[in-house]
Amino acid sequence: MNRFEVAFTNAGYGALTVVPRLSLNASGGQLLVLLGSNGAGKTTSLRAAVGTVRTTARTVKLDGEELSRLNAWQLARRAIAFVPDGARCFANASVIDNLTGALEALRPKATQAERQLLFETVFDLFPVLRERRQQLAGSMSGGQRQMLAISRGLMMEPRVLILDEPSAGLAPKRVEEVFEALGRIKAENNCAIVMAEQNVAAAMSIADRCLILSEGHVVTEGSIDEVRNDPRLRVAYLGL
Ligand SMILES: Nc1ncnc2c1ncn2[C@@H]1O[C@H](COP(=O)(O)OP(=O)(O)OP(=O)(O)O)[C@@H](O)[C@H]1O
Ligand SMILES: [Mg+2]
Repeated sequence: MNRFEVAFTNAGYGALTVVPRLSLNASGGQLLVLLGSNGAGKTTSLRAAVGTVRTTARTVKLDGEELSRLNAWQLARRAIAFVPDGARCFANASVIDNLTGALEALRPKATQAERQLLFETVFDLFPVLRERRQQLAGSMSGGQRQMLAISRGLMMEPRVLILDEPSAGLAPKRVEEVFEALGRIKAENNCAIVMAEQNVAAAMSIADRCLILSEGHVVTEGSIDEVRNDPRLRVAYLGL
């Protein structure tokens, strides 16, 4: 099923509370997008969800199983992948070494055949990575590094994939490629995807549901159609 549920209160830094309360959920085969302008609290919310930002109470469940006490690393081992913003990879390592590193960390017992299959899966999603598998990540374009960062997350065959602004800094064509791949991951792997985005139009083209944040508060949560057809939201928050 892959039903992912998170709720937390008082996400923030030191004495500063950025997101007083938030709950979100996504089921397998569904993509939830968090929208909101700069500083709205999208990154803080995603990081609070995986436990790398302070909260006062946090519950995390996957198919009803209580995972609230697990940290980001332990969640990753439970197939809940977090791909942070900034297309982070090891710049001085090749594409294949970046992927192998993620595999070693998350699935050290994977057999050679399993590794090969996983590499082929991500190379089918992002063919440019196959062509450039010996290239140093740091010498690739932002779009290619984003594809690699997502692929590192895919090494754990995620049941839940959490992404922070995967389109940031990418040329429109690359955004299209990345989002098309996310659509495939969602559908083919029955993965639940939660994604923060500022690229409203592109995000809404692949999302099923949307949550809008403004200054740390949830303005609305609903299906893409509901949100798209609400003139108040369109003008005030979506710039559509
Ligand atoms: N490490 C930090 N320490 C203190 N305050 C922070 C920290 N990170 C973010 N903030 C503050 O929290 C608020 C929300 O930031 P956050 O990064 O969550 O927003 P965002 O919606 O992801 O914005 P963007 O679209 O720019 O990525 C901002 O006011 C920001 O200044
Ligand atoms: Mg952010």
